[in-house]
Amino acid sequence: MRAMPPESPEAFRAPTGTHDLLPPDSDRWIEAVSVFARRAARYGYGLVVTPVFEHRDVFERVGESTDVVRKEMYEFLDKGGRAMALRPEGTAPVVRAYVQHRPTPPWKVWYVAPLFRYERPQKGRYRQHWQVGVEALGVDDPQVDVEVIALLAGYLRELGLERWRLLVNSMGDPTDRRSYVEVLREHLLAHAADLGPEFAERVAENPLRVLDSKNEAWQEVIERAPQLTEHLGAESRAHFESVQRGLDALGIEYELDPRLVRGFDYYTSTTFEFVSDALDAAQNAVGGGGRYDQLAEGMGGPSTPGIGFGVGLERLLIVAEAEGAVGRVAAGLDAFVVDALGVGRDALVLTQELREAGLRVDRAYGGRSVKAQLKLADRSGAAFGVILGADELSRDAVAVRDLRSSKQVEVPREQLAAWLQAQREFDR
Ligand code: HAM
Repeated sequence: MRAMPPESPEAFRAPTGTHDLLPPDSDRWIEAVSVFARRAARYGYGLVVTPVFEHRDVFERVGESTDVVRKEMYEFLDKGGRAMALRPEGTAPVVRAYVQHRPTPPWKVWYVAPLFRYERPQKGRYRQHWQVGVEALGVDDPQVDVEVIALLAGYLRELGLERWRLLVNSMGDPTDRRSYVEVLREHLLAHAADLGPEFAERVAENPLRVLDSKNEAWQEVIERAPQLTEHLGAESRAHFESVQRGLDALGIEYELDPRLVRGFDYYTSTTFEFVSDALDAAQNAVGGGGRYDQLAEGMGGPSTPGIGFGVGLERLLIVAEAEGAVGRVAAGLDAFVVDALGVGRDALVLTQELREAGLRVDRAYGGRSVKAQLKLADRSGAAFGVILGADELSRDAVAVRDLRSSKQVEVPREQLAAWLQAQREFDR
């Protein structure tokens, strides 16, 4: 273990590849999560919350040949000597929870979770990132695939995002894949000598992993490689065609991309990815997912098909910024209480009353001058300043100043909450 010397300039900074999310940027984050939560509920998904760390074994099925498990996992032995890992992705923990609790299928859950991968950090690629996602277990009907994709397409639209493309592919079932992998291996090995040891190593490990490589030198061989969709068995083909018909029926545009190989070994059948040109080409996926019909069984559970996706929140917000979307965050204050009495008690009580009445209210502290408080009120972005002055109070009223127009009116104290509520409705 290597500790950071306390005098190091890095010691008290967020670790490389992580970042702090501060207001007001966090307004967009909470808006993106809330919109997702409401949407998931409309599609019949309930929230699932699993631990941030799991036994390392849980992630074995994600793929021992994948970068995420082999090279990027934050692994540690706990004080009892157990091999643990910070979750690098959200699907395996949800399936572990399904196998453990055996809820009655279909089991439809959504999550918002931080995930950890020891990656080379760059814009849109971090060592801790957040995902919102869904998993639907227990149904192999292709219409579920269509619904899951529709949920995500609608989410992006609801956030005001327009510049994205949907790529879909099928990974077939394990039998289809086994025979395809052999054909693919043969094709790739025929070129291994020219392409160096890294290429040969990848082919030996998992030829499918070569297909989604961005390595320029390999592209020609990859482009000429045989395609999995040409090697699908009858059942996989029928499923895949049915998914396409469903997307057509809902008017969701998509591109068939036989080279779409997602980064985990658990995928079977339908896979998909939403890509945005607002992101760098090397990591242009905003979200993606697919079927994992063997995963529950692989964890010792009953044979249970499953499908889901994850959306990277950081990437989503980069895209939103580029497109000028997710701006409709109405998180501003309704009122800012200005205490012109200099006593403090009335401001304390009034602020509390308004907040309990459901209004967003802030105030100044520490007996500042009225001028200083009004300045703070302006800076707070509140719609109204509520000024507690002796004159008005003697009439059981307060002065309310519209902070944009500076127009001021007197409002009876007991009507204040309702008055502010009405303004908020009016503003909408
Ligand atoms: P994934 O493609 O690894 O899939 O991640 C989903 C999304 O998370 C990506 O499209 C990307 O937006 C974001 N993401 C991934 N890694 C990073 C990173 N290092 N920094 C920033 N954002 C990142 C999964 O994790 C699967 N569990 C999805 C799934 C659910 N499949 C079936 N169900």
